[in-house]
Amino acid sequence: MRYHQVRQVDPAVADALEGERDRQENTLAMIASENHASEAVLRAQGSELTNKYAEGYPGHRYYAGCEYADTVEALAIERAKELWGAEHVNVQPHSGTQANMGVYLAILDPGDRILSLDLTHGGHLSHGHPANFAGQLFEVEHYGVDPETGYVDYDDLEARAESFEPDVIVSGYSAYPREVDWARVQAVADGVGAYHLADIAHITGLVAAGVHESPVGTADFVTGSTHKTIRAGRGGIIMCGEEHADAIDTAVFPGCQGGPLLHNIAGKAVGFGEALEPSFERYARQVVANAEALGDRLTDHGFSLVSGGTDTHLVLVDLRDSHPETPGAVAEAALEEVGVVLNKNTVPGETRSAFDPSGIRAGTPGITTRGMDEAACERVADVIARVVDAAHDERVTREAAGEVEELCAAYPLYDGDGELTNRW
Ligand SMILES: Cc1ncc(COP(=O)(O)O)c(C=O)c1O
Repeated sequence: MRYHQVRQVDPAVADALEGERDRQENTLAMIASENHASEAVLRAQGSELTNKYAEGYPGHRYYAGCEYADTVEALAIERAKELWGAEHVNVQPHSGTQANMGVYLAILDPGDRILSLDLTHGGHLSHGHPANFAGQLFEVEHYGVDPETGYVDYDDLEARAESFEPDVIVSGYSAYPREVDWARVQAVADGVGAYHLADIAHITGLVAAGVHESPVGTADFVTGSTHKTIRAGRGGIIMCGEEHADAIDTAVFPGCQGGPLLHNIAGKAVGFGEALEPSFERYARQVVANAEALGDRLTDHGFSLVSGGTDTHLVLVDLRDSHPETPGAVAEAALEEVGVVLNKNTVPGETRSAFDPSGIRAGTPGITTRGMDEAACERVADVIARVVDAAHDERVTREAAGEVEELCAAYPLYDGDGELTNRW
């Protein structure tokens, strides 16, 4: 029994933990921000470092007993530098959002200006949504994607930068399927005297593997999540040039966090180590190849993809024309019922609402980790098409659920030793 120690003291939580493991094994995780971390990453995250306080940074702590904490954090930093080629790395942000908060705190004062992509066009809450601290503390203006092409409208970005005079321009997105032109954004930022923050939360793994161009060395600051495409411990990361190192470190601690979550940093170190193996590049390439295969097949089935396709790990489907009676929430629920777990999503030019949007977003990091290839992704696309075409037809749902069960059995998440089967 996997969670026998938890079960002895807390059967209710043990049931939920086992249930979650089974859910992940028996469904297809296609939420683009999710992945499956290795057993080694999970164990490191569940380690005794949970208990340790180590405010400060390696070699400069406010507490005693930090010998092993220092080793783990130094390894995470060293491996991150090797992966992304950054001069300075801070691995303490508790999440991607905290990483962005750290950068804002380092370079902005309350009332300063952020220029970022509209949330309904693929941006993130922490880029200045009114419900988020970033929208509450700072003045925010948005640029958009071109409504015709679905690509970031860099001319719009430039025009708004000139009129709004932001202190920081944020690039990097949550639901954007194309490569980002970091150099173009940096040139605009330089032209208006703003900083450029490239948030690679979703694509950290693709960038580390060289499958997506890197903003490191181009953008002033780069932030990311560490548990998405990079598949390491859960949390965030900030990268920058040496000239900003002190400002960033001070902004993270004591600026906006207390003690670092060293167990998560241990998970980051282990996952970064795994990503330095040659197999990780094969995995990342396959993630993109799988997203392309998924997108092409959905297009063959009559679905409309924002930007017409993908260069990354995700596809964004606009259901308005092809399935006007099946908005994102209905599609999400019908697909969850058959074991395809993805999320409803706004699309550029959204005509509904964030709670009841017009699209769905599907990602391939998780299903690629379980060994799926292009042919398997085409089968997944066939299932998605069948279910969304007939969201309320019980016979279709039953057959689709059977097909997902078969796919999960053919590409098991864990092998007999409990290790990820990832065959890339
Ligand atoms: C572009 C972007 N930035 C930041 C985040 C926030 O990451 P976290 O959920 O770790 O706070 C996300 C999450 O998906 C994201 O897509």
